[in-house]
Amino acid sequence: MPHLLYIESSPRKTRSASIEVSQAFLKAWQASHPGGSVDVLDVWNTPLPEFDGAALDAKYAGLAGQPLSPEQAAVWAQLKALADRFHRADRLVVSAPMWNYTIPYKLKHLIDVVTQKDLLFSFDERGLNGLLTQCRALLVLARGVEFGNAAGAFSAEIWDDQQRYLRLWLQEIGIADVQCLTVEKTLYGPEADTASRAAAVAAAAALAPGF
Ligand SMILES: Cc1cc2nc3c(=O)[nH]c(=O)nc-3n(C[C@H](O)[C@H](O)[C@H](O)COP(=O)(O)O)c2cc1C
Repeated sequence: MPHLLYIESSPRKTRSASIEVSQAFLKAWQASHPGGSVDVLDVWNTPLPEFDGAALDAKYAGLAGQPLSPEQAAVWAQLKALADRFHRADRLVVSAPMWNYTIPYKLKHLIDVVTQKDLLFSFDERGLNGLLTQCRALLVLARGVEFGNAAGAFSAEIWDDQQRYLRLWLQEIGIADVQCLTVEKTLYGPEADTASRAAAVAAAAALAPGF
């Protein structure tokens, strides 16, 4: 039975476009995958260790092949428990608002603590290899402005470090099959916001059965 890890990173909850589209996707996914399970990881209410002190020392001890102190081992166990949630999943959905052209700091915090050698990737004489090769991913991205070539639109090449960064991260951890749904123009007034959300919700429902 497929198991899906859903990572949520907007703190706007009931007002959030990325969550609205993700919820539509998850509802359609569960309807079309009876028996499938969903693990929800909300970065705003999941305790994430600070990445300094023992956590940082544990990372560098691991890289140097040195044994971990009891304090380092304790914090590493926390990171491993987070990474295990990724390994259990064969589907990953990451929803994210655009904040200052990229992702919210809480999502970056999760990525920084969980993306570790021997947890989500290996690094040896064969180079850097992601460990989640059996997983496929969907990005559900929201932004306030419009990207494209229309007058007044922003060029994604310059202004989009949200999708570019998340795709790079997924590549690093071994996920090659990545799809993306976007909802934009959420700051262009209620009419544009509603139309944009409706189009993305419909696209999400259509995508879910085959995911
Ligand atoms: C701190 C912050 C920074 C933002 N930066 C951008 C930005 O760089 N580009 C953009 O298009 N929208 C930006 N926005 C607007 C959000 O992307 C927009 O409101 C989007 O709908 C948020 O997703 P959500 O509705 O899922 O929370 C920003 C919003 C906040 C709160």
